Amino acid sequence: MDAFDSTYEYLADNTRKTAMDFPTACRALLNEVLITAKLLIPENKSLVSDPYRALTVIDLGFGCGDQTVHLMQETYNTVPTDSGSTAEQRFPPIKRYVGVTLDRTQFHLGMLGRSHTSSSIKIFCADAAQPASWSEELARAAKLTSVSPSSSRDAPSSAKLAESINREIWVLALDTLYHFAPSRQPIFDYAHRELEASLMAFDLALADDASWFDRALLAIVCLFTGTPFSNFVTAAQYRTMLTLAGYDEDSIELRDVSEHIFAPLTRFLLERERQLGLIGLGIGGVRVARWMFGWWGKSGVVRGVIVIARR
Ligand SMILES: C[S@@+](CC[C@H](N)C(=O)[O-])C[C@H]1O[C@@H](n2cnc3c(N)ncnc32)[C@H](O)[C@@H]1O
Repeated sequence: MDAFDSTYEYLADNTRKTAMDFPTACRALLNEVLITAKLLIPENKSLVSDPYRALTVIDLGFGCGDQTVHLMQETYNTVPTDSGSTAEQRFPPIKRYVGVTLDRTQFHLGMLGRSHTSSSIKIFCADAAQPASWSEELARAAKLTSVSPSSSRDAPSSAKLAESINREIWVLALDTLYHFAPSRQPIFDYAHRELEASLMAFDLALADDASWFDRALLAIVCLFTGTPFSNFVTAAQYRTMLTLAGYDEDSIELRDVSEHIFAPLTRFLLERERQLGLIGLGIGGVRVARWMFGWWGKSGVVRGVIVIARR
C-alpha cells in the first residue's frame, strides 16, 4: 500500500518493538487521508507550483489541535527557490482553516494555541453534526465567499480572480463522523450544497457480512460508549448517503485500511496496559478499548475506511 506502508505501518512496526510513538502514527494516518485525496504528494515528489491554488480546510472534530499544527506545518514546509517559487512543496497552501469541536476543553486549548498564529485560522465550539444550529459567525467562516466581478463593487485584481477560480474547499473529519448524532447525513448535505466542498475522512463502517450476533454486541458497545449505533452502516450504505447529499457516485472513494489500524492499536493498548499495571494505575478503560479493537481486528466486523468524496 505505497506510502501507507512506510508511514502508518510505522505504528505496527513500533508497537511490535513496544516503542510506539502514537502521535506519529496519528499524523501518518492524516497524511494517508491527504494522499488519498491527492492533496499531499508522497515523499520525493513535489507539487507543480501554482501560486493561485488556495485551499480551505473545514476540520470537524479537530481534537487537541495536533492535526491543525500538522496541516499548517505541511503548508509552510516549503523550500523557496531563487526564483521565489516553491519547487519542493508537497501540499497546496491552506488559505483558510476553520476548526470545529464539540468539546469545550479542546476549544479553549485551541484558542490558546491560536493566539500565536495567523488570523486565517478560526476555531469554534459547536455541534458539527447539526450545521443548522451553527452561529452566523461559524456559517460565514465556513462558507466560501467567492470573488466575482458582478458581486464586487471594485473590480477584483486578476490575481484575486485567479485565486477564487483555483479555490478548493475540503471538509476534513478524522475519526469523528461516527460520533455524529443523529446521523452524518446533515453534514454531508451541508458540505455538498452549502459549502460546495469535497470531503476527506477517516471513518468506521460495518462489514457487509456482520452477523446478527456481532450487530447486537456492537449495539451494546455503542450504548456504553455513547456512539449512535445507527452510524454503523455498510460501505454501500455509506456511498448512498454521500450520493443523496449530491456527490457523484464516480467521485466517491472508500479505501479500507482496517489492517493498518485495529491490530496495531490493540498491540499499543496491550503495551500501555502493561506499563500502567507496573506503576499500579487503573487499567479498566484501556482494557475495554483493547478488547474492542482486538475484536474488530480479528472479526473484521467494523472496518476502518478512508473516505473521499469530490465536489
Ligand atoms: C476520536 S476524536 C478525534 C480527534 C482528532 N480528529 C484526531 O483524529 O485525533 C473525536 C473528536 O470529534 C469531536 N466530536 C465528536 N462529535 C462532534 C460533533 N458533533 N461536533 C464537533 N466535534 C465533535 C470530539 O470532541 C473529538 O475531538
